[in-house]
Amino acid sequence: MTRMTVNGEALQYRLDPETPLLFALRDASNLTGAKHGCYSGDCGSCTVIADGQAVLSCQLTIAAAEGAEITTIEGLSADRAHPLQQAWAAEQVSQCGRCDPGFIMALAALMRATPNPTPDQLSALPNICRCGATPRIMKAIARAASAAAPPATPHPAGTAAQRPESPGGAAAEAPAQ
Ligand code: FES
Ligand code: FES
Repeated sequence: MTRMTVNGEALQYRLDPETPLLFALRDASNLTGAKHGCYSGDCGSCTVIADGQAVLSCQLTIAAAEGAEITTIEGLSADRAHPLQQAWAAEQVSQCGRCDPGFIMALAALMRATPNPTPDQLSALPNICRCGATPRIMKAIARAASAAAPPATPHPAGTAAQRPESPGGAAAEAPAQ
């Protein structure tokens, strides 16, 4: 029996300990948000958060996840109010939808530590979109980043930031399955 917490619920899986977390979530817990894409660690569609870190659930056995706090897209927010979910909807990102949960979970973990991720950080993500929605994904990331950013503080007239000569100037036994 393998114990972990999934979306706040303590679960015990009666499965082979070598079962990929992805299959336990999808097949035993009916949490089908994480998608089965490549099963080789190359697409990111299976991404969930384990103890605050984005992980590829196709590459992680439930034995390796024993005792972890797992969050799936279903548990990211109670009412789809997470800034990334809101941004995804506002930018109408989804096409087939297969990549979206993985992107959102990877970004949710990244942006918790870095609300405005750099291009290098974004390009380091394993997530890919096969449908050509990447430009909309980038717009949604920018929208979510600006929603998460603290409000700008107005500069009083004549501060260095406004002077043109200024240098620089500116980026599962409940239910056990
Ligand atoms: S299904 Fe896990 S990385 Fe593609
Ligand atoms: S919308 Fe289809 S893979 Fe991204």
